[in-house]
Amino acid sequence: MTSDKTRIDWIGSSCRLLQATAEEFRHTRPFEGLTIGTGIHLEPKTVALLMTLAAGDARLVCTGNLNSTQPATVEFLRAEGMTVFATQTTDPVAHHQSLEAVVAEKPDLLLDNGGDLFAIAADRPYANLLGGTEETTSGRTRLLPLRERLAMPILVINDSPIKQFAENKHAVGQSLFESYMRFTNRSTNGKRVTVFGYGACGKGTAACFRNAFSQVSVVDIDPVTTLEANLDGFLTPLRHDAIRSADVLITVTGHPGIVTATDLPLIKHGAILLNGGHFPNEIDVAAFRGHPDVVAIDRYQTDSIETLNLKDGRAIHILGGGHMANLAGPRPLGNSVESMDLGFTLQVRCLERVANRGVGPEACIVPVPADIDAMVASAYLDLAR
Ligand SMILES: NC(=O)c1ccc[n+]([C@@H]2O[C@H](COP(=O)([O-])OP(=O)(O)OC[C@H]3O[C@@H](n4cnc5c(N)ncnc54)[C@H](O)[C@@H]3O)[C@@H](O)[C@H]2O)c1
Repeated sequence: MTSDKTRIDWIGSSCRLLQATAEEFRHTRPFEGLTIGTGIHLEPKTVALLMTLAAGDARLVCTGNLNSTQPATVEFLRAEGMTVFATQTTDPVAHHQSLEAVVAEKPDLLLDNGGDLFAIAADRPYANLLGGTEETTSGRTRLLPLRERLAMPILVINDSPIKQFAENKHAVGQSLFESYMRFTNRSTNGKRVTVFGYGACGKGTAACFRNAFSQVSVVDIDPVTTLEANLDGFLTPLRHDAIRSADVLITVTGHPGIVTATDLPLIKHGAILLNGGHFPNEIDVAAFRGHPDVVAIDRYQTDSIETLNLKDGRAIHILGGGHMANLAGPRPLGNSVESMDLGFTLQVRCLERVANRGVGPEACIVPVPADIDAMVASAYLDLAR
């Protein structure tokens, strides 16, 4: 007998840790009577995460992040009875309305990615909010100044060593590399690639392109980190030399304005620019488009490639409008299933800890508790043996 299956089925059956956790949650019901509001990419791997929370008896009210919402995922979640406020949009105003709609439901727990939901809750606190989780580097940076106002347990998944090496280091590098190939169908061999940022994501990105026979340069504002890149064998030229020589420029810093229109005179004819950082502000795409030297823009709509043609005959290409390339463009797959299975299992265990009052307000914007890291690592290794 044959039966037709979807990508959501494939991903679900590949998330072995989440499957095992969901089985346990069906008995323990850690979220009984609680609503969880989520603001994280709505794509097939998130379905496995949300279904695990639902198995623990949570009521779910969901939205996504800017640009990455996949309509088939939204349809699936709605059919499973979840409330979803989300459209596939690059418009921050439309996205904000969806975030507001989630918080208006007054969820007991928030699962945030980029600090969107907690930032609203800090402005308009409500009594039943117990706390929750923040997924990423950029969210931690955004929420830290709001700590006094939030004063509730918020466990930062990004700061687990497991998230750092399993996702940021190994998976983001692989998926940005895969995305460069997927968007462009161009080779990496012998290409000069400049990576901005040598944090966990930058390390993996630089390594993946080097392994694919590119000549990789690293630019980081921190001299100690730059030294590390140098001793790891990467070229570490001055910033303007690294821009001037690059065939491919990749930003993964978590900070805005990394490559801007003032760099335009330096950028080589034919250079390809892509971003892996959370927010679409690392490459100042709007300023590039509006620069007086840009005489025409070609848009390859289905491939999400934009070519800016300059007065002097140069052309530069921007992938995915500067949005996270691994979740943009044609058939965006995001990070590998295994890395997300690990990260999302940390998510559900942390939400379980907040739900059962196992952490208090002193745990506001702190890393994943070490015992949860150990539990998730052991569970993964047991399944792999
Ligand atoms: N695409 C994805 O799937 C994905 C997954 C995880 C994280 N992220 C995002 O990737 C970004 C980077 O995450 P990370 O964990 O590597 O962060 P990190 O903080 O570990 O590293 C960032 C690095 O960028 C450097 N940096 C800061 N400003 C710079 C500048 N002006 N020029 C050059 N370097 C600069 C810092 O010194 C640091 O070394 C964040 O936005 C994070 O949210 C994306």
